[in-house]
Amino acid sequence: MTESAATRPRPGFPRLLPASRFDPHHDHGFRSDLKVVAAPVAAVLGPMEPPILPRTTEKTASLGNRARRDTMPRMELSRRINELAESATLKLTARAARMQGEGIDVVAMTAGEPDFDTPQHVKQAAIDAILRGETKYPKPASGLPKLKSAVCEYLHARQNLLYRPEQVIVTCGAKLAINKALQVLLNPGDEVLIPVPYWVSYPELVKLAGGTPVFVESDERNDFKLTVEQLAAAITPKTKALLYCSPSNPCGFTYHPEETRALIETVVDRGVVVISDEIYDRLLFGDQQTLCPAAVSPQAYAHTITINGGSKVFAMTGWRIGYAAGPAHVIAAMAKLQSQGTSGAAPFIQLAFAEGLRDDRGEIERMRLDFERRGRHMHQRLTAIPGITCIKPSGAYYLFPNVSGVFKKMKVADCDALAERLLVEAHVAVVPGSAFGSKQHVRMSFATSLAQIDKALDRLEAFLK
Ligand SMILES: Cc1ncc(COP(=O)(O)O)c(C=O)c1O
Repeated sequence: MTESAATRPRPGFPRLLPASRFDPHHDHGFRSDLKVVAAPVAAVLGPMEPPILPRTTEKTASLGNRARRDTMPRMELSRRINELAESATLKLTARAARMQGEGIDVVAMTAGEPDFDTPQHVKQAAIDAILRGETKYPKPASGLPKLKSAVCEYLHARQNLLYRPEQVIVTCGAKLAINKALQVLLNPGDEVLIPVPYWVSYPELVKLAGGTPVFVESDERNDFKLTVEQLAAAITPKTKALLYCSPSNPCGFTYHPEETRALIETVVDRGVVVISDEIYDRLLFGDQQTLCPAAVSPQAYAHTITINGGSKVFAMTGWRIGYAAGPAHVIAAMAKLQSQGTSGAAPFIQLAFAEGLRDDRGEIERMRLDFERRGRHMHQRLTAIPGITCIKPSGAYYLFPNVSGVFKKMKVADCDALAERLLVEAHVAVVPGSAFGSKQHVRMSFATSLAQIDKALDRLEAFLK
C-alpha cells in the first residue's frame, strides 16, 4: 500500500493509520479531540492530503457527519495496549448503567462497590483539609507521613505486623499498588502464579508489567481454595511471585490461618514473592479468622507485599486511595515509579483516609453485618434454584454460583451466553465467570440492598422456570 502524505510518518510524530482502519466505536474520544487539534496539527505538519472518502452509499449518506469522521486517519496504538483486555466488570457495570439510562429497569449485580456512603466523619475530614488548603502536591509523592503512620498502626493493630513509614507507599487505589509492585518486580519472562478463579485485573496487570501469568487451577469441591500440592506443582525456576487474594473476589472464600500458613510457607521457602491483596480484609462472616501472609513468619514478612485500600471496607471506591506495605527497597522502587507517574494521591483524600483508618467509629462493623445478612439471604435463595450450586461466602461480597446445570435447559453453551440472555431478557446484570477464568460460573455481587437482591432473584427464578 502506498503511503499518502497524511499517513507517512514524519520525524518525531507517530504513524497515522489510513482511513480504512479507522474504527468509529473505539475512537470516539479521538474524533471529538480532532476538531480541537486540527488547526495546530495542520500548522506543524503542513496541509494534509484530503483523505480518500469511501464511495457514498445510502447508509453512509444518511449517517452524515459520522461517515465523514469515519474517513479520518488514526494513530496506531502500541502492541502492549492492543493486547490488554478491558475490565469485564467495569464494562458490564457501564452497560447496565447505560440500559438504566435508556429507561430499562436493570438490576445490576455486577459492581464490586458498596452501596453504602463513605462514613460521614471521613468525608468531613476531607472537607476540613480542603478548607485548610491541603490542596497542593502531596509531599512526599509516596504518601503523607500522617497516612503512612496510620497504615503502620492499622497493620500492627490487626495482625501485629511491624512496619516503619518508609515501608509504606500510598497510591491512587489498590489496583495501582498491585500494578506498581508488579512493575518493579518483574523482568520479561518472569512467571506470576494466579489462582483460578481470579480477580479480572490480575492477568492483565502481570502482562502489562512484562510478566507471564501462570494459572493455577483450584477445585470447587474444596471451595476453590488452593492446596499446597496444587501450588507447589505450579512453581518453576521462573516463578517470581504469587498473587494471593483472601477474602476472595470472585469466589467469596477466605483462607483459614492454617491454610494460609501452609500455602505461604510453600512459596516463600522457594524464594517466591507474595503479593497479598487484602482489600476485603475486614469483610469476614461468621467466625472466620484470617492471617496476613506477612504475619506467617519472618521469612514470609521479607517476601510479602501487602496491598490494601479504602475502596471496599471504607466505602471509598471513588476516592481512589490505596497502599502497599513491604520491604523498604521494594517500596522505594515503587515510590520512584510513582514520582514519574501520578505524583501521588490527593493530600485531602490521604488525610480523610487516615482519619478512617485511625477510628472508623463502628461504621465498618455496621456495613459488615449488613453484607453478611445479604450474603446469607442471597445464598439461600440462589441455591434453592434447581441446577445452581454455590459455595457459602465467608468474606468479601460476592457469590460465584456454578450455573452449568441450567445451560441445557436454557439452550446456552456457556456462562457468557447465559449472562447475555439474563441481561437482555430478564434485565438482571451478572458478570460471566469467563472474566475470572471459568465458563461455568457467574459472579453476583451482594453489595446492594436486600430489595434489589430479591428483585434480581425473583427475575432469575422466573427466567429459569
Ligand atoms: C480483589 C481486588 N483487588 C483490588 C481491587 C481494586 O481496588 P481499588 O478500588 O482500591 O483500586 C478490587 C476492586 O474491585 C478487587 O476486587
